[in-house]
Amino acid sequence: MKVTASSPGKIILTGEHFVVHGAYSIAAAINKRVFVSITDVQKESFIVSGSSESKVGADDGRFPLVKAIVREAFGDNASKHSRFEIRISSEIPSGSGLGSSAAVSVATAAAALKFSRSNIDQKKVLDLASLGEKQVHGNPSGIDVETSLNGGLLLFSRKTGSKSIPLNRIVHFLIVYSGKPRRTSSLISKVEQRKKEFPNFFDSLTRAASFLSLDVVDALTAGDLPRLGALMNISQATLSWIGVSTPVLDQLIEDIASRDVFGVKLTGAGGGGSIIALPKPETMRALLKFTSKNYATSFVSSIPQDGLRWES
Ligand code: PMV
Repeated sequence: MKVTASSPGKIILTGEHFVVHGAYSIAAAINKRVFVSITDVQKESFIVSGSSESKVGADDGRFPLVKAIVREAFGDNASKHSRFEIRISSEIPSGSGLGSSAAVSVATAAAALKFSRSNIDQKKVLDLASLGEKQVHGNPSGIDVETSLNGGLLLFSRKTGSKSIPLNRIVHFLIVYSGKPRRTSSLISKVEQRKKEFPNFFDSLTRAASFLSLDVVDALTAGDLPRLGALMNISQATLSWIGVSTPVLDQLIEDIASRDVFGVKLTGAGGGGSIIALPKPETMRALLKFTSKNYATSFVSSIPQDGLRWES
Protein backbone atom coordinates (compact mmCIF):
# COMPACT_ATOMS: atom_id res chain seq x y z
CA MET A 1 0.00 0.00 0.00
CA LYS A 2 1.21 3.51 -0.78
CA VAL A 3 -0.50 6.84 -0.09
CA THR A 4 0.81 10.26 -1.08
CA ALA A 5 -0.58 13.61 0.02
CA SER A 6 0.68 17.09 -0.75
CA SER A 7 0.01 20.53 0.74
CA PRO A 8 1.08 24.06 -0.19
CA GLY A 9 3.20 26.56 1.71
CA LYS A 10 1.83 30.01 2.44
CA ILE A 11 2.56 33.72 2.63
CA ILE A 12 1.00 36.14 5.09
CA LEU A 13 -0.13 39.46 3.60
CA THR A 14 -1.00 41.22 6.88
CA GLY A 15 -1.43 40.49 10.57
CA GLU A 16 1.35 38.00 11.31
CA HIS A 17 2.23 37.93 15.04
CA PHE A 18 -0.78 40.12 15.87
CA VAL A 19 -2.93 37.13 14.85
CA VAL A 20 -1.44 35.20 17.79
CA HIS A 21 -2.91 37.95 20.03
CA GLY A 22 -6.38 37.93 18.47
CA ALA A 23 -6.11 40.09 15.31
CA TYR A 24 -7.41 39.23 11.86
CA SER A 25 -4.72 38.13 9.44
CA ILE A 26 -4.71 37.38 5.72
CA ALA A 27 -2.79 34.42 4.31
CA ALA A 28 -2.52 32.92 0.84
CA ALA A 29 -1.36 29.53 -0.43
CA ILE A 30 1.69 29.53 -2.74
CA ASN A 31 2.59 27.28 -5.64
CA LYS A 32 5.32 25.41 -3.76
CA ARG A 33 4.31 22.22 -1.99
CA VAL A 34 5.42 19.47 0.39
CA PHE A 35 4.80 15.84 -0.66
CA VAL A 36 4.51 13.06 1.93
CA SER A 37 4.29 9.35 0.99
CA ILE A 38 3.71 6.44 3.33
CA THR A 39 4.53 2.94 2.03
CA ASP A 40 4.57 -0.58 3.51
CA VAL A 41 8.13 -1.87 3.95
CA GLN A 42 9.72 -5.05 5.28
CA LYS A 43 12.27 -3.43 7.60
CA GLU A 44 11.85 -1.21 10.65
CA SER A 45 9.68 1.90 10.18
CA PHE A 46 11.57 5.04 9.28
CA ILE A 47 11.26 8.59 8.00
CA VAL A 48 13.36 10.01 5.14
CA SER A 49 13.73 13.55 3.88
CA GLY A 50 16.59 14.36 1.50
CA SER A 51 19.76 12.95 3.07
CA SER A 52 18.30 12.85 6.58
CA GLU A 53 16.62 9.76 8.02
CA SER A 54 15.45 8.44 11.36
CA LYS A 55 13.65 5.38 12.74
CA VAL A 56 10.07 6.22 13.72
CA GLY A 57 10.66 4.89 17.24
CA ALA A 58 14.04 6.63 17.71
CA ASP A 59 14.23 9.39 20.30
CA ASP A 60 16.99 11.25 18.41
CA GLY A 61 15.37 14.70 18.10
CA ARG A 62 14.82 14.25 14.35
CA PHE A 63 11.42 14.81 12.72
CA PRO A 64 9.66 15.51 16.06
CA LEU A 65 6.63 16.89 14.26
CA VAL A 66 6.18 13.90 11.94
CA LYS A 67 6.73 11.41 14.78
CA ALA A 68 4.16 13.12 17.01
CA ILE A 69 1.57 13.06 14.23
CA VAL A 70 2.22 9.44 13.25
CA ARG A 71 2.02 8.19 16.84
CA GLU A 72 -1.25 10.01 17.37
CA ALA A 73 -2.71 8.87 14.02
CA PHE A 74 -1.93 5.19 14.43
CA GLY A 75 -2.92 5.13 18.11
CA ASP A 76 -3.93 1.60 19.17
CA ASN A 77 -3.40 0.38 15.60
CA ALA A 78 0.32 1.17 15.74
CA SER A 79 1.31 -2.51 15.90
CA LYS A 80 -0.63 -3.29 12.71
CA HIS A 81 1.38 -0.63 10.91
CA SER A 82 4.75 -1.16 12.50
CA ARG A 83 6.56 -1.34 9.17
CA PHE A 84 6.25 1.71 7.02
CA GLU A 85 8.42 4.27 5.35
CA ILE A 86 7.51 7.96 5.35
CA ARG A 87 9.16 9.96 2.58
CA ILE A 88 9.03 13.76 2.69
CA SER A 89 9.92 15.82 -0.33
CA SER A 90 9.66 19.58 0.02
CA GLU A 91 9.82 22.46 -2.45
CA ILE A 92 9.85 24.91 0.50
CA PRO A 93 13.03 25.67 2.47
CA SER A 94 12.50 24.96 6.17
CA GLY A 95 12.63 27.95 8.52
CA SER A 96 11.96 30.30 5.59
CA GLY A 97 8.64 31.66 6.90
CA LEU A 98 6.81 30.08 3.96
CA GLY A 99 4.88 27.54 6.00
CA SER A 100 6.98 24.44 5.37
CA SER A 101 6.29 22.92 8.79
CA ALA A 102 2.52 23.43 8.43
CA ALA A 103 2.61 21.87 4.96
CA VAL A 104 4.56 18.88 6.35
CA SER A 105 2.04 18.62 9.20
CA VAL A 106 -1.03 18.71 6.95
CA ALA A 107 0.31 16.28 4.34
CA THR A 108 1.64 13.88 7.01
CA ALA A 109 -1.60 14.00 9.00
CA ALA A 110 -3.70 13.26 5.90
CA ALA A 111 -1.40 10.49 4.64
CA ALA A 112 -1.16 8.87 8.09
CA LEU A 113 -4.95 8.90 8.55
CA LYS A 114 -5.47 7.33 5.12
CA PHE A 115 -2.70 4.77 5.65
CA SER A 116 -4.22 3.76 9.01
CA ARG A 117 -7.59 3.41 7.21
CA SER A 118 -9.31 6.00 9.41
CA ASN A 119 -12.24 7.94 8.04
CA ILE A 120 -10.85 11.25 6.85
CA ASP A 121 -12.46 14.65 7.03
CA GLN A 122 -11.04 18.19 7.03
CA LYS A 123 -11.54 18.55 10.79
CA LYS A 124 -9.62 15.35 11.60
CA VAL A 125 -6.69 16.42 9.41
CA LEU A 126 -6.74 19.93 10.93
CA ASP A 127 -6.74 18.62 14.52
CA LEU A 128 -3.94 16.13 13.88
CA ALA A 129 -1.79 18.62 11.93
CA SER A 130 -2.32 21.29 14.61
CA LEU A 131 -0.99 18.92 17.23
CA GLY A 132 2.32 18.74 15.32
CA GLU A 133 2.43 22.52 14.86
CA LYS A 134 1.96 23.14 18.59
CA GLN A 135 5.07 21.07 19.24
CA VAL A 136 7.14 23.19 16.84
CA HIS A 137 5.75 26.72 17.35
CA GLY A 138 4.67 26.61 21.02
CA ASN A 139 1.71 28.98 20.64
CA PRO A 140 0.71 29.01 16.97
CA SER A 141 -2.41 30.88 15.93
CA GLY A 142 -3.34 28.09 13.51
CA ILE A 143 -3.25 30.28 10.38
CA ASP A 144 -0.44 28.29 8.68
CA VAL A 145 -2.21 24.93 9.03
CA GLU A 146 -5.57 26.37 7.92
CA THR A 147 -3.98 27.85 4.78
CA SER A 148 -2.06 24.71 3.91
CA LEU A 149 -5.19 22.60 4.34
CA ASN A 150 -7.65 24.86 2.50
CA GLY A 151 -5.48 26.64 -0.10
CA GLY A 152 -6.57 29.94 -1.70
CA LEU A 153 -6.86 33.22 0.19
CA LEU A 154 -7.98 33.13 3.84
CA LEU A 155 -9.11 35.70 6.38
CA PHE A 156 -8.33 34.21 9.77
CA SER A 157 -8.64 35.05 13.45
CA ARG A 158 -8.41 32.77 16.48
CA LYS A 159 -11.96 33.74 17.46
CA THR A 160 -13.69 33.41 14.08
CA GLY A 161 -11.53 30.71 12.46
CA SER A 162 -10.86 30.86 8.72
CA LYS A 163 -12.98 32.25 5.93
CA SER A 164 -12.10 31.66 2.26
CA ILE A 165 -12.06 34.86 0.21
CA PRO A 166 -13.02 34.29 -3.44
CA LEU A 167 -10.83 36.13 -5.94
CA ASN A 168 -11.96 36.90 -9.47
CA ARG A 169 -8.56 37.94 -10.78
CA ILE A 170 -5.02 36.53 -10.62
CA VAL A 171 -2.51 38.37 -8.43
CA HIS A 172 1.20 37.56 -8.57
CA PHE A 173 3.66 38.06 -5.72
CA LEU A 174 7.44 37.92 -5.86
CA ILE A 175 8.73 35.84 -2.96
CA VAL A 176 12.36 36.00 -1.84
CA TYR A 177 13.91 33.88 0.91
CA SER A 178 16.71 35.79 2.64
CA GLY A 179 18.62 32.53 3.21
CA LYS A 180 18.47 33.05 6.99
CA PRO A 181 16.39 30.31 8.65
CA ARG A 182 14.83 31.03 12.06
CA ARG A 183 12.55 29.50 14.67
CA THR A 184 9.02 30.85 14.76
CA SER A 185 8.68 29.97 18.47
CA SER A 186 11.58 32.30 19.48
CA LEU A 187 10.06 35.17 17.51
CA ILE A 188 6.64 34.61 19.07
CA SER A 189 8.33 34.80 22.51
CA LYS A 190 10.17 37.99 21.53
CA VAL A 191 6.88 39.62 20.52
CA GLU A 192 5.22 38.47 23.76
CA GLN A 193 8.00 40.31 25.59
CA ARG A 194 7.28 43.47 23.57
CA LYS A 195 3.62 43.16 24.49
CA LYS A 196 4.53 42.99 28.20
CA GLU A 197 6.72 46.11 27.91
CA PHE A 198 4.21 48.23 25.98
CA PRO A 199 0.76 46.69 26.58
CA ASN A 200 -1.37 49.65 25.46
CA PHE A 201 0.68 50.37 22.35
CA PHE A 202 0.72 46.69 21.45
CA ASP A 203 -3.03 46.49 21.92
CA SER A 204 -3.59 49.41 19.53
CA LEU A 205 -1.27 47.78 16.95
CA THR A 206 -3.23 44.54 17.26
CA ARG A 207 -6.48 46.37 16.53
CA ALA A 208 -4.76 48.22 13.66
CA ALA A 209 -3.61 44.86 12.22
CA SER A 210 -7.26 43.75 12.06
CA PHE A 211 -8.24 46.92 10.18
CA LEU A 212 -5.30 46.42 7.79
CA SER A 213 -6.37 42.83 7.11
CA LEU A 214 -9.98 43.78 6.40
CA ASP A 215 -8.73 46.57 4.10
CA VAL A 216 -6.53 44.03 2.28
CA VAL A 217 -9.62 41.90 1.59
CA ASP A 218 -11.35 44.94 0.04
CA ALA A 219 -8.29 45.93 -2.00
CA LEU A 220 -7.80 42.39 -3.34
CA THR A 221 -11.47 41.94 -4.13
CA ALA A 222 -11.52 45.24 -5.99
CA GLY A 223 -8.23 44.43 -7.78
CA ASP A 224 -6.77 47.66 -6.36
CA LEU A 225 -3.07 46.72 -6.42
CA PRO A 226 -1.69 50.19 -5.50
CA ARG A 227 -3.85 50.13 -2.34
CA LEU A 228 -2.86 46.53 -1.57
CA GLY A 229 0.82 47.53 -1.89
CA ALA A 230 0.34 50.53 0.40
CA LEU A 231 -1.29 48.29 3.02
CA MET A 232 1.65 45.86 2.76
CA ASN A 233 4.07 48.75 3.38
CA ILE A 234 2.13 49.86 6.48
CA SER A 235 2.13 46.27 7.71
CA GLN A 236 5.94 46.16 7.33
CA ALA A 237 6.26 49.33 9.46
CA THR A 238 4.25 47.76 12.31
CA LEU A 239 6.34 44.56 12.12
CA SER A 240 9.49 46.71 12.37
CA TRP A 241 8.07 48.42 15.47
CA ILE A 242 7.60 45.10 17.24
CA GLY A 243 11.19 44.12 16.44
CA VAL A 244 10.82 41.22 14.00
CA SER A 245 12.49 42.80 10.96
CA THR A 246 16.29 42.58 10.68
CA PRO A 247 19.02 44.67 8.97
CA VAL A 248 19.23 42.03 6.19
CA LEU A 249 15.47 42.13 5.60
CA ASP A 250 15.41 45.95 5.82
CA GLN A 251 18.13 46.17 3.16
CA LEU A 252 16.39 43.68 0.87
CA ILE A 253 13.09 45.53 1.31
CA GLU A 254 14.77 48.89 0.59
CA ASP A 255 16.46 47.51 -2.57
CA ILE A 256 13.15 46.16 -3.85
CA ALA A 257 11.13 49.23 -2.83
CA SER A 258 13.35 51.42 -5.02
CA ARG A 259 12.41 49.35 -8.12
CA ASP A 260 8.89 50.30 -8.98
CA VAL A 261 6.80 48.06 -6.75
CA PHE A 262 3.41 48.71 -5.17
CA GLY A 263 4.50 47.22 -1.85
CA VAL A 264 7.01 44.98 -0.09
CA LYS A 265 7.18 43.46 3.38
CA LEU A 266 8.52 40.57 5.39
CA THR A 267 6.15 37.62 5.60
CA GLY A 268 5.62 35.23 8.51
CA ALA A 269 7.55 35.38 11.74
CA GLY A 270 10.46 37.53 10.47
CA GLY A 271 13.89 37.49 12.18
CA GLY A 272 15.19 36.26 8.79
CA GLY A 273 12.92 34.17 6.61
CA SER A 274 11.28 35.68 3.53
CA ILE A 275 9.86 38.84 2.04
CA ILE A 276 6.99 39.29 -0.40
CA ALA A 277 6.72 42.05 -2.99
CA LEU A 278 3.87 43.20 -5.19
CA PRO A 279 5.62 44.55 -8.31
CA LYS A 280 3.88 46.40 -11.09
CA PRO A 281 3.10 43.70 -13.71
CA GLU A 282 5.58 45.24 -16.20
CA THR A 283 8.46 45.19 -13.67
CA MET A 284 8.01 41.63 -12.35
CA ARG A 285 10.47 39.98 -14.77
CA ALA A 286 13.29 42.48 -14.17
CA LEU A 287 12.77 42.35 -10.42
CA LEU A 288 12.90 38.54 -10.37
CA LYS A 289 16.14 38.68 -12.35
CA PHE A 290 17.54 41.20 -9.87
CA THR A 291 16.66 39.22 -6.71
CA SER A 292 17.69 35.87 -8.24
CA LYS A 293 21.28 37.15 -8.53
CA ASN A 294 21.74 37.19 -4.74
CA TYR A 295 18.94 34.99 -3.44
CA ALA A 296 18.68 31.42 -4.74
CA THR A 297 15.07 31.04 -3.61
CA SER A 298 13.35 33.83 -5.54
CA PHE A 299 10.13 32.96 -7.34
CA VAL A 300 6.79 34.28 -8.49
CA SER A 301 3.59 32.82 -7.07
CA SER A 302 -0.08 33.34 -7.74
CA ILE A 303 -2.62 32.23 -5.13
CA PRO A 304 -3.45 28.59 -6.01
CA GLN A 305 -6.84 27.29 -4.89
CA ASP A 306 -5.53 23.79 -4.13
CA GLY A 307 -4.90 23.03 -0.47
CA LEU A 308 -4.45 19.41 0.65
CA ARG A 309 -4.33 17.14 -2.42
CA TRP A 310 -4.00 13.39 -3.01
CA GLU A 311 -1.26 12.46 -5.46
CA SER A 312 -1.41 9.34 -7.57
O1 PMV B 1 5.14 30.08 9.91
P1 PMV B 1 5.81 31.41 10.05
O2 PMV B 1 7.14 31.34 10.63
O3 PMV B 1 5.73 32.12 8.78
O4 PMV B 1 4.94 32.29 11.09
C1 PMV B 1 3.58 32.18 11.24
C2 PMV B 1 2.93 33.45 11.59
C3 PMV B 1 2.98 33.89 13.04
O5 PMV B 1 1.93 34.83 13.19
C4 PMV B 1 4.30 34.56 13.37
C5 PMV B 1 2.78 32.74 14.02
C6 PMV B 1 1.38 32.17 14.04
O6 PMV B 1 1.25 31.02 14.48
O7 PMV B 1 0.42 32.85 13.66
